[in-house]
Amino acid sequence: MKTTILTALAMSLLASTAMAQSECQSGETLIKYSHVSAPTGNPKGEMATALAKRVNEEMDGQLCIQVYPSSQLYNDDEVMEALAIGDVQLASPDIGKLGAYTAKLDVFNLPFLFEDTDAVSRFTHSETGDELLKSMSDNGFVGLAYVYNGLRAFSANRPLIEPSDLNGLKIRATTSDVSIAMIKALGANPQPLAWSEAFGALQTGVVDGQENTWSNIYTGKLYEVQDGVTETNHQFLTYILVTSADFLDSLDDDVREKFLGIVGEISDEYNEKATAINEESKKRIEEAGVTVRTLTPEQRQKWVDAVKPVWEEFEDGIGKDVIEAAVASNKS
Ligand code: SIN
Repeated sequence: MKTTILTALAMSLLASTAMAQSECQSGETLIKYSHVSAPTGNPKGEMATALAKRVNEEMDGQLCIQVYPSSQLYNDDEVMEALAIGDVQLASPDIGKLGAYTAKLDVFNLPFLFEDTDAVSRFTHSETGDELLKSMSDNGFVGLAYVYNGLRAFSANRPLIEPSDLNGLKIRATTSDVSIAMIKALGANPQPLAWSEAFGALQTGVVDGQENTWSNIYTGKLYEVQDGVTETNHQFLTYILVTSADFLDSLDDDVREKFLGIVGEISDEYNEKATAINEESKKRIEEAGVTVRTLTPEQRQKWVDAVKPVWEEFEDGIGKDVIEAAVASNKS
């Protein structure tokens, strides 16, 4: 009986998804956009929905975007493969997971590099930022825009104040080599897992902790299964909206130009909203009774010192010039 009800529920979910996605007409070029975030309450999820809405309204008869959020189609490591073979046409993975395509992009994950959204904005709008968008061209990928989330915070099943509090803990990591090295440098055991597996791993005790932005901690319900969150602000989660060169080249010039114009406007609009979305998530987490811990300057310095060797480890791959340009973006 239970199985029958579950099957019926699954079928009705599939049917409603198919209905929501059935607005594309024949003659329109279909753009399947796969991402891992929640469709609402999350900067990337909200941006993806808004992008589809504008393109579908303003390019009716030419392009049609179907958004597949919440890892419905692919996780971040699979999606680049899917882009390469043309199974999807848009993705927006965490930049930190793209180090396999170009080590230069690892700069975004160097711990305690960017101070705030304004610094990230100055960097992504710089000449170096522009060059990095094109840095996956050898692999046939084109970066269309940067998409911001926010600063990441650590949480665990015990209070975290100093790096030594992480000693021996298993911490969910993204598949970014920089993040894995950072967690090791802090004395913990990194467990690389897809985003879709993070909540389950925390809930079942497969891992003891994690690190993410307020909006991800909130929409992923991670705060429900953690002792509290420590505002370490150790990395700024940035995404690249990416497509394949084959797909982009296949569009007529006027269609491509209009599409890229909308992409630029929507990404700017939603990047300006990212900080507010994260602040709202933090507020909701606090209202849910979760302990949010902040660090004194002395405590914070201990975290900064512990992870400094990670910068040296990745400097050759990223390039000293790229790191210097990123550091300089902290000063207005
Ligand atoms: C995402 O925000 O896209 C996922 C981040 C993560 O894997 O931690």
